[in-house]
Amino acid sequence: MAGKKRIGILTGGGDCPGLNAAIRATTKTAIQEGYEVIGIWNGWKGLIDDEYEILDRIKTSGIIDRGGTILGTSRLSPFRVENGVQRVFDGFKKLELEALVVLGGDGTLTVASKLFDMGLPVIGIPKTIDNDIEGTDYTIGFQTAVQVATDALDRLRSTAESHHRVMLLEVMGRHAGWIATYAGMANGADAILIPEIPLDKEKIEELCQMLKIRKERGINFSIVVVAEGTKLDGGVVARELLDINTNEKRERLGGVGIELGEIIEARTGLETRVSSLGYIQRGGTPVAYDRSLATAFGVKAFELIKQRKYGEMTALKGNKISSVPLEKVAGRIKTVYLNAYRIAERFFG
Ligand code: F6P
Repeated sequence: MAGKKRIGILTGGGDCPGLNAAIRATTKTAIQEGYEVIGIWNGWKGLIDDEYEILDRIKTSGIIDRGGTILGTSRLSPFRVENGVQRVFDGFKKLELEALVVLGGDGTLTVASKLFDMGLPVIGIPKTIDNDIEGTDYTIGFQTAVQVATDALDRLRSTAESHHRVMLLEVMGRHAGWIATYAGMANGADAILIPEIPLDKEKIEELCQMLKIRKERGINFSIVVVAEGTKLDGGVVARELLDINTNEKRERLGGVGIELGEIIEARTGLETRVSSLGYIQRGGTPVAYDRSLATAFGVKAFELIKQRKYGEMTALKGNKISSVPLEKVAGRIKTVYLNAYRIAERFFG
């Protein structure tokens, strides 16, 4: 397969809005520079199982506003598959790739970092609605999820007002409460509960008191946002379920809202209802911000390849697009900045 230089691109882990915009930007930039681009299917699985396609201008046209990923995704780690790592290296070699662009969250980027240490020329692009990746202010997908959650909270407020209820919305956020904090702030929520601040007995009591005081003041409704990973009485609310793709057990979070709603109603006597936003916040059209961020990250990823600056992740710092070494990102979680939470907190109750 002599001729054009080639790069590969894959998306791993949970999907999010804006992935296609990044695939488009990376591919079109590479094509403009005379490269060929191979789209690897379903994350690392595609390199292991030899599943891929050539991406061209036609395949990557008209996808900037499309949610999800045209390449498919999976949570499969090559380190958990027999000969998985070797098969990734073999697949990379067989496709005669110069470098691999990996769009991922904490799991996928940690794998990318390890593979880089073993000699694979990779560039990471951070994506996850959870926004919990170290080294970058924002990840692709976060702003869309915040908008969806804010819209949901705004809708909940009108029905909460009509029925004089406490409305609880559970949003995603496995290790960090970024979506809850930013959507809650944008909606003017009365309480925002996040994994960074465990809900112990005292905190639950404080919350119930605050809701009762609101009622006494004559405010007949309240809005509470809770991130799925918020610890209630010392633990997260989750079930260990078998992932049928990887055949491994994975903790599936969800239900903290329901448990908390019951506690609130029992302790305050205020009628309480709970909704969970679930996968709705991860699907659909990316907002403009995510499309622009994804486009900038895609172009930067290709620049890094041209400079042979492998083992880096594209990053946003302030208003500058830069990069950080993957090793500084791997295995870490960026928790919510307390100063942002404190701003939202001023308006609680
Ligand atoms: O994309 C991140 C995330 O949305 C987490 O907040 C959530 O816990 C997880 O993915 C659920 O992912 P899945 O059910 O697709 O494995």
